[in-house]
Amino acid sequence: MITDRINEVLAEVSGITADSAEALESLRIRYMSKKGIVSELMNEFRNVPAEQKREVGMKINELKTTIQDRISELRQRLSAAESDHSDIDLTRTPYPVRLGTRHPLSIVKNEIVDIFSRMGFAMADGPEIEDDWHVFSSMNFAEDHPARDMQDTFFIESHPDIILRTHTSSVQSRVMETTQPPIRVICPGRVYRNEAISARAHCFFHQVEGLYIDKEVSFTDLKQVLLTFAREMFGADTQIRLRPSYFPFTEPSAEMDISCNICGGKGCSFCKHTGWVEILGCGMVDPAVLEAGGIDSSLYTGYAFGMGIERITNLKYSVKDLRLFSENDTRFLEEFMAAH
Ligand code: DAH
Repeated sequence: MITDRINEVLAEVSGITADSAEALESLRIRYMSKKGIVSELMNEFRNVPAEQKREVGMKINELKTTIQDRISELRQRLSAAESDHSDIDLTRTPYPVRLGTRHPLSIVKNEIVDIFSRMGFAMADGPEIEDDWHVFSSMNFAEDHPARDMQDTFFIESHPDIILRTHTSSVQSRVMETTQPPIRVICPGRVYRNEAISARAHCFFHQVEGLYIDKEVSFTDLKQVLLTFAREMFGADTQIRLRPSYFPFTEPSAEMDISCNICGGKGCSFCKHTGWVEILGCGMVDPAVLEAGGIDSSLYTGYAFGMGIERITNLKYSVKDLRLFSENDTRFLEEFMAAH
């Protein structure tokens, strides 16, 4: 009898399992394919007397859904088992991840910015492709100043007024034209000069500019901030020395030396046996620069300073050849793995 057969299959189906995709597929073929058990029963169904058709039809349908449900349940169990990574050994030592290193110039720049931000300086930024006004004229360079010379400055050929900035002092001028005092900013960035590349010179390098403008800012303030910077950067024993100098944008101007951090001031080849090395230029902002920046020089005074990041890095890490900074030789860069 067909109903006996149906009940038999129903009982069989409640016990089926599959531990692989292949096993599941053969179950599907056994029950659901064209020549499978369900089709077979459908064929037999044609011979069922009319008065029994309703009952038997319902039975076959029930069997069909039971099989479909069971197969899809088994399929789900299989895919859940596949994504269960219980065979992975989580206690195994991992492969070492090879991290990159920060560039030495970035390490030093970050440290400089950090020291000054602890003293209340905010960051400021300006474009590397600048105009003559921001780089030279607003900074009080006379028309015939040698720094404007073709030999130092990269010009954009078709636009004689547009140049690659030769120093970050241009950011001073950018800040002044948009901000009124008190101004206290630190401006790190890349600068360009038309120089032949050698161990001691490059056509681009990096500077950090500092600018402080407020009422009654004095040279003493400048000296104290620079002393604090030198000691934070090079150690608490570091001495500083200010020598009179000249810059168009500051008056008076000075250059600052620190006691040689390589020999401790005793004299070595790095400090040319003087015990001192120059690290920055500084001075009181020239009133003409304040006025060019739209700041009333009868109310405000300020100081400024500028330093080369490569120079500070040389001192901290004894890098002898400037070219190493831009060659991207990983053997050199990896030496700074521990420094950041
Ligand atoms: N701009 C100067 C240079 O490139 C460095 C400098 C000197 C910046 C004195 C200053 C400063 O702000 O006051 O050599």
